[in-house]
Amino acid sequence: MQKTVVLGVTGCVAIYKACEVLRGLQKAGVRVKVVMTKNATEFIQPAMFRALMREPVAVGLFDDAPGDPIHHISLAKEADLFLVAPCTANVMAKLAHGIADDLLTTTALATTAPIAIAPAMNVNMYDHVATQENMQTLKARGVRFIDAGEGYLACGDVGRGRLAEPDDIVAAAIEMLEVTHDLAGKHVLVTAGPTVEPIDPARYISNRSSGKTGFAIARAALNRGAKVTLVTGPVALGDVEGADMARVTTALQMRDAVDAAFDDADIAVFSAAVCDARPSNPSKRKLKKGADDEALMHIELTENPDILATMAGRKRPEQVVVGFAAETENVVANARAKLERKHADMIVGNLVGEGRGFATDENEVVFVYADRERRLPLMNKDDLAHAILDEALEKLE
Ligand code: PMT
Repeated sequence: MQKTVVLGVTGCVAIYKACEVLRGLQKAGVRVKVVMTKNATEFIQPAMFRALMREPVAVGLFDDAPGDPIHHISLAKEADLFLVAPCTANVMAKLAHGIADDLLTTTALATTAPIAIAPAMNVNMYDHVATQENMQTLKARGVRFIDAGEGYLACGDVGRGRLAEPDDIVAAAIEMLEVTHDLAGKHVLVTAGPTVEPIDPARYISNRSSGKTGFAIARAALNRGAKVTLVTGPVALGDVEGADMARVTTALQMRDAVDAAFDDADIAVFSAAVCDARPSNPSKRKLKKGADDEALMHIELTENPDILATMAGRKRPEQVVVGFAAETENVVANARAKLERKHADMIVGNLVGEGRGFATDENEVVFVYADRERRLPLMNKDDLAHAILDEALEKLE
């Protein structure tokens, strides 16, 4: 059955590329319905899109669409995908906060279809903490971002904020339309983020994991129809809507949360950066320089349980266990050693350090098996999440 993309078009100079996106989707056999913001019509007349679509263009919330008085609801129901390209900072903020004051934002709030956003704005607006927070909020809800490019901007600045290339937007949209619910009926368990091991009420041992990788895997699995349990250490990311969230602090708490969910899981992906050790005697009061120098300068450590190894050691044949390996050298060899030592089905090896891997939006990994490995190009963590689930699903079947 022909798929429908509701293409939300907002008011910025990159709007002319929306015509190329529309044509690209049409060439791929997709039906496109355009909804414009009022500001968008200051840049391009709706007639342009009407000519390309040979269908009416929706703009105002109270436009009298012939025979269709509640336009936003019908548009929302028709969408197999709601794509906003280009998306201004203003509209992104409205979507993040559930504001529905025009046809585009009302339709976005009313649709149950997946949503994809291709941002386009000045570099300073893009980098502004408010915009970045709105992006993280939307990502945590499963909204897919087609990342803005870097380069010369219409306003004369140079930097990130250029609308992605129309071909890339079309490719991402097609991929989302084709994502089948191939994980329906499956339970995917994901660990994410760091663990935090207290020294005293003020100090702790931890690491640089942001949780982005694990949260992306949880979102991707949900989008593919899975039941998802996400066990995460302390991260600055909002809940993944639809996932059973278990927020923990220490490795021992993570072990207990994983232990409770593991036996029911079909696929378990251990992306968390679990601290290998914890202070043996965490102090209930803040240690004082001087008086407590001995305790502060010589912190005795106790080894934490290896959660991946423990679970892989008891997995049933029909379960798939995917581990990670964060390495600063010899990624494949070290990942293979972990694969064998921990009895995982596959290890996702990644080079970390010097700003790589931890907290980035992109990563470059290698899938490591006992007898082969498969290198993946640098990609955003949403695409990486799908690649990992594709691999695990193949092993499951
Ligand atoms: O969260 P991000 O900011 O997106 O960063 C992603 C990441 C860099 C954290 C991720 O890609 C990654 O590499 N995660 C694994 C980090 C880690 O702990 O690697 P490791 O080589 O130390 O551990 C190997 C495997 O054993 C991992 O699957 C880990 O979850 C698991 N492990 C390790 C120690 C332990 N006590 N229990 C475990 O389960």
